Amino acid sequence: MIITYLSAPFCNIQVQHSLERWLLWVEELAENDYVIIDDFLDEELFRKIMAHCSRHLPDFTQAGIGSLGDFTIQEGIRGDRTYWLERSRDIDLRAFWDLVDEAIHIMNRYCYLSISDSEFHLAHYPKGSFYDRHLDQFAGRNNRMISMVIYLNELWQPGDGGELEIFRDDDSVIVEPLAKRCALFKSADVPHQVLMAHKNRFSLTGWLLYQPVGLGQFLG
Ligand code: OGA
Ligand code: MN
Repeated sequence: MIITYLSAPFCNIQVQHSLERWLLWVEELAENDYVIIDDFLDEELFRKIMAHCSRHLPDFTQAGIGSLGDFTIQEGIRGDRTYWLERSRDIDLRAFWDLVDEAIHIMNRYCYLSISDSEFHLAHYPKGSFYDRHLDQFAGRNNRMISMVIYLNELWQPGDGGELEIFRDDDSVIVEPLAKRCALFKSADVPHQVLMAHKNRFSLTGWLLYQPVGLGQFLG
């Protein structure tokens, strides 16, 4: 067990990762605008999230794009189905919420961000679906600071598709959606897309926000 390094109000959560590891990740995030972290979830937390995901499969709904007023469903741009999570309702994910708090603390303390909230959904890309190139911000909705995507695909193999493609100045980076892997990137600065999934593809995706979430989570 790692002794907590968090201060109030987070001092009684059990941290998942050492400060040394976090500092390496944060340095890479600052330098490259993104960082890919393998084994971000331990086995126990991974199983809890998988169980939660299976239990709530009937509750997933078609995701849309845009924000209040211009929200639309366009499967030619984005074909995933999502289930928005809530801390007060999805309490069997407690260890996950602690991990989110740990990340928020680290970002605020070491990246000088003012993150005060977060929003997360489970996402399912059925075979044949994808999400075109985009930024995780849109008109009327610019409070997403850091995107956090955690992959849940245990049996993923080359050819299964659904890779995350992160665009850089002149090239791009392909990230395989492997179980327990986490992609962290700056929401406003990193264009990215999800390549077509050839098999079911699952993730736990969310954003660290600099303002309370308000109505936003129903809208994007
Ligand atoms: C998103 C997104 C990336 C991924 O949901 O906005 O870009 O790899 N997800 O699932
Ligand atoms: Mn995105």
